[in-house]
Amino acid sequence: MAKHETPLLDQLESGPWPSFVTDIKRQAEKKPECWDILGVLELSYKERITHWKHGGIVGVFGYGGGIVGRYVDLPKRFPGVEHFHTIRVAQPASKYYSTANLRQMMDLWEKHGSGMTNFHGSTGDIILLGTRTENLEPFFWDLTHDMGQDLGGSGSNLRTPANCVGQSRCEWSCYDTEEACHHLTMHYQDEIHRPAFPYKFKFKFSGCPNDCVAAIARSDVSVIGTWRDEIRIDQAGVKEYVAGNYPANGGAHSGRDWGAFDIQKEVVDLCPTECMWMEGDELKIDDKECTR
Ligand code: HEM
Ligand code: HEM
Ligand code: SF4
Ligand code: SF4
Repeated sequence: MAKHETPLLDQLESGPWPSFVTDIKRQAEKKPECWDILGVLELSYKERITHWKHGGIVGVFGYGGGIVGRYVDLPKRFPGVEHFHTIRVAQPASKYYSTANLRQMMDLWEKHGSGMTNFHGSTGDIILLGTRTENLEPFFWDLTHDMGQDLGGSGSNLRTPANCVGQSRCEWSCYDTEEACHHLTMHYQDEIHRPAFPYKFKFKFSGCPNDCVAAIARSDVSVIGTWRDEIRIDQAGVKEYVAGNYPANGGAHSGRDWGAFDIQKEVVDLCPTECMWMEGDELKIDDKECTR
């Protein structure tokens, strides 16, 4: 597993952003199989076709998901990625970690795999990229016995449920998203580990309609917090906004001039049911017509 010539990939390191090519090169110094990821990708850039096969099924005994099979179709030329399976590890609620836990996880992954990671996959899991079939059971044993952590969902399983930080950090949260996510994760363990559906199935939990986990776009069961009583309006706050005494977008636009705040254009006219209006300097809402 030697270094390959990769002129096309090398060019990607020249841009202004952090480069995955640089990251993989750094990891390859420690784990030489990573040179072959770069080698096979360079070849794909040249030939304009992927050299990853559709994996087939790999996994650990008793589970029907959590590992995604990956094999390269040129194993003689790229032996380091002959097998390069992806492991999904269920993330903690809201993705809070201790550094001790992360270090232990990385030590485990350097021991059994390539050390390449993706924090996190779109679904939410910790994604560990690249290991051989024979390493799966030893990794799984250590993960579950030494770390008390578990695989996530893949394929036609219930996917690892995910939540926004909710009331652990956010003042907008209308319910305890972590509790709901944890509870349903425990309740549906069987479905997370064994495929029960004809295709993937996802739960996501957002504490309020800001929907920071994009539950409505990305899950089959979207649980989004909303308020039960009528909308309360801080009229003094409205006046301050209209007078321009609050910075636009909480200060996120600082340094740029977006012009004076226009409550009619930026708030009232955006209501889909047109149930808001201004009466003098007071904001009014017809609660019956609010469909949030
Ligand atoms: C080293 C190269 C690769 C990286 C970094 C990578 C990264 C990822 C990530 C981050 C996810 C999402 C996991 C989640 O959201 O929970 C994923 C899933 C997936 N990737 Fe890759 N991937 C690689 C190679 C490939 C290849 C070569 C293919 C296809 C030929 C592929 C096809 C897929 C598919 C189909 C899924 C979804 C699996 C499922 O739903 O069960 N990946 N990959
Ligand atoms: C109109 C066509 C398509 C629609 C509507 C669609 C829709 C979706 C949706 C809703 C998700 C879930 C996203 C999330 O959980 O964040 C997803 C994930 C995914 N789709 Fe598609 N998709 C389409 C076409 C494709 C095609 C053509 C491919 C592959 C060539 C593909 C590969 C994937 C993969 C690999 C994922 C998992 C990504 C991840 O979890 O990180 N999709 N797609
Ligand atoms: S969805 Fe709402 S409650 Fe959850 S983090 Fe975003 S703003 Fe806060
Ligand atoms: S329907 Fe109108 S008033 Fe109700 S939450 Fe949406 S924008 Fe606000």
